Amino acid sequence: MEVIDLLFSLTPKTKKEDLFDRERELKDLEKLLETYPIVVITGLRRVGKSSLVKVFLNKSDLLHITVDGRRLYETSGGNISSHHLTRFLGEELSRISKSQKLLNVLKRVRGITVSGTSIELNPKEFSLSDLLEKLNETAKRRKKKIVIFFDEAQYLRYYGSRGGNDLLALFAYCYDNFENVRFIISGSEVGVLHDFLKLEDYSSPLHGRGIGFLTVRPFTFDQSVDFLMEGFREVGEKINFDVEEIVREIDGIVGYLVLFGVKYLEKKKKDEALKEVFHAVKALFEKEMEELRKRSERYPFILRQIARGINTWSALKNIFRAKGDFIGDSRLYSLLETLEKMSFIEKTQSGYRIVDPVFERILRE
Ligand SMILES: Nc1ncnc2c1ncn2[C@@H]1O[C@H](COP(=O)(O)OP(=O)(O)O)[C@@H](O)[C@H]1O
Ligand SMILES: [Mg+2]
Repeated sequence: MEVIDLLFSLTPKTKKEDLFDRERELKDLEKLLETYPIVVITGLRRVGKSSLVKVFLNKSDLLHITVDGRRLYETSGGNISSHHLTRFLGEELSRISKSQKLLNVLKRVRGITVSGTSIELNPKEFSLSDLLEKLNETAKRRKKKIVIFFDEAQYLRYYGSRGGNDLLALFAYCYDNFENVRFIISGSEVGVLHDFLKLEDYSSPLHGRGIGFLTVRPFTFDQSVDFLMEGFREVGEKINFDVEEIVREIDGIVGYLVLFGVKYLEKKKKDEALKEVFHAVKALFEKEMEELRKRSERYPFILRQIARGINTWSALKNIFRAKGDFIGDSRLYSLLETLEKMSFIEKTQSGYRIVDPVFERILRE
């Protein structure tokens, strides 16, 4: 019997029937993967990136492997070597090879021993590019693509001794040579875009290669209302408050809606549940602001100004001047662009605005 996950469950969804909406994103992802060897999934924390990709891969007929950067980081004690990644891939391959019929392929890779259904990799003899080459050949023969999904990819900057560049070089090599191998990369945006991929950096191995981007956006007002109603209906909970009021407070980031649902079911008091959501969000934001601040003090400053309504290029430039910071035009431009890429802000007709209303409120405090 298949276990159906509740909408209000805190772990990423993996099955299509558990995923609320995201029809368009699923189609977009499919198209992007046909075009681009590397697809980067961006979007705010808890907006549903992992869920989207997991569901997509499980329902597709693509060969696929998932590498969770955080697990890799933790099991390697903070310094990921090619041995760790190799061992990790070995475990993943053992897990999936039966269902995806990869055992015969792997038998032919130097440094891999297959016994029964388990796979052992000998890191000394084995090279990642050999493996990728074999996977590419197999995929090609089966007229399929093989997708390697790196989630929580911000941790991959701890790969090797050059901030993850060795791995990027491998991606670049695959990009140029193995047309049936595809990568999906996701995780915390600050970390992934800024520290790992370093796409704006001319010396990054991936610089200049076409990369697909998919942004997972918060649900609209109506979708969010439907989501909460559906979540409560699913567990048979009769609620005595207006869910629209809740959505006005916390908006459409699905992870927060789930958290509200979970807390409400626990306490049966909507105000307490709301308070818990804000509390959790605040902790997340503080951590993220700290991360941003490490890269530049100017990031949190810009965000606070935008939250206060100082939200055009020239107004921002002036306020920097007013505090004695003579920031250059191109620098300010690139800071804003990065904040936009990380979906903290978006450009509107009337200037920049903070995307997440909960965050905006915290910034104004
Ligand atoms: N489309 C969806 N339908 C139902 N629940 C979702 C959906 N997307 C995400 N969730 C839930 O929201 C929370 C955060 O999702 P997750 O995929 O981990 O986000 P991210 O990877 O962007 O941080 C989880 O509890 C997950 O189950
Ligand atoms: Mg995730």
